[in-house]
Amino acid sequence: MKILITGGAGFIGSHLCDALLIENHKIVVVDNLILGRIENISHLIGLESFQFIEEDILNFDKLQGIFKEHSFDMVYHLAANSDIQKGGKDPEVDYNLTFNTTFNILLCMKEFDVKKLFFASTSAIYGETLENLTEDFGPLQPVSNYGAGKLASEAFISAFSATYNIQTWITRFPNVVGERFTHGVIFDFINKLKANPHELIVLGNGEQNKPYLYVKDLIEGILYVCNTAQDRLNVYNLGSYTRTKVKEIALMVIEEMGLKATIKYTGGDRGWVGDVPEFKYDLSKINQLGWEAKINSNDSVRIAIQKALGK
Ligand SMILES: NC(=O)c1ccc[n+]([C@@H]2O[C@H](COP(=O)([O-])OP(=O)(O)OC[C@H]3O[C@@H](n4cnc5c(N)ncnc54)[C@H](O)[C@@H]3O)[C@@H](O)[C@H]2O)c1
Repeated sequence: MKILITGGAGFIGSHLCDALLIENHKIVVVDNLILGRIENISHLIGLESFQFIEEDILNFDKLQGIFKEHSFDMVYHLAANSDIQKGGKDPEVDYNLTFNTTFNILLCMKEFDVKKLFFASTSAIYGETLENLTEDFGPLQPVSNYGAGKLASEAFISAFSATYNIQTWITRFPNVVGERFTHGVIFDFINKLKANPHELIVLGNGEQNKPYLYVKDLIEGILYVCNTAQDRLNVYNLGSYTRTKVKEIALMVIEEMGLKATIKYTGGDRGWVGDVPEFKYDLSKINQLGWEAKINSNDSVRIAIQKALGK
C-alpha cells in the first residue's frame, strides 16, 4: 500500500515507519518537526520506498497538494501535541495540534477518497476514574485538553467513518516508552539526574500507578489490530494489565544510572494539572482478537531506561 504517516518523525511514528517498510509498503511521512526529530528517520531517508515531507498539517492547501500528488491507500495519523503540560497552559495547542490536525486529515481523506485510517488515541480520553476501562466505558470526561482533543478527534473519525465509509482502526495507547522518546517520566528523570546526580525531585507523591508499554510491543499491537480487526470502525485499548508506580521508576532510573541520589517528592496525588494519577485497562477485547503485550510494565520501563542510557 501507499501509506501516509503523519507525525512519522516522532517517537512512535518513526518506529511505525520502520515496521511498515519491513512489510514492503511505500511510506510518505508528513511532519513539521515541531516535536519530532529528523534523526529518528535519518536512516530511512534515501530509500526508494520512503519519502519525508517537512510540512505543517495545519497548512491545509499544502496538505491537499500532498494528498493530490500521492493517491494514498491508507493514513496512519499520529501527529499531535505530545506535551500535555504545555497543552494545559495554552488550550490552543491541543485544539490545533491534537484536534485540527485530525480534522484536516479527515477532510483530505474525504476529498481524495482515501478509505483506510489508523488513529493513535490515548487512555486520556477516559478521564479520571478507578474503573476497569473497557472500550465502551462512559461517560467520557477527559481532564486534560490533550484528552479532549483526542476524544473530539475520535468523535469526528467515527462520524466520517460512517458517513464516507472509511474503514478505521483506533487504538488507545497507555504510556509508551523506549528508544527515541523525547518526553515522559523516564526522559525527565534521566535529564534531572544528569543535571543533579545527588537529588531527584519527583512531581506528586510517587504513588501514580499506570501501565507502561514498550514501543516495539505497541507497534506490533497496532499492526496486529489493523491486519486482523475488519469491522468498519475498530476501537481497541492497547496495553498491558501490569502497572508501575512513579516511585518505582525513580528507583530504577537511579539504580541504572549507578547513583545514590535521594528522592524528594513535591507532594499531592498527581504530577501536574491534567495528569491522571491512576488508571487500569480492561484488555479482554484485544486479547480475544489474539494479541497481548509480550513485555510487562516494569520490564518495559527497565528496557526504556537502559536504551536511553545507551546500555
Ligand atoms: N507516547 C505516548 O506515551 C503516547 C500515549 C498515548 C498516545 N500517544 C499518541 O501517539 C502519537 C505519537 O506520539 P509520540 O509519543 O510519538 O509523540 P511525538 O511528539 O514524538 O510525535 C508526534 C509528532 O507529530 C508531529 N506534529 C505535531 N503537530 C504537527 C503538525 N501540525 N503538522 C505536522 N506534524 C506535526 C511532531 O513534530 C511529532 O513528530 C500521538 O498522536 C500521541 O498523542 C502517545
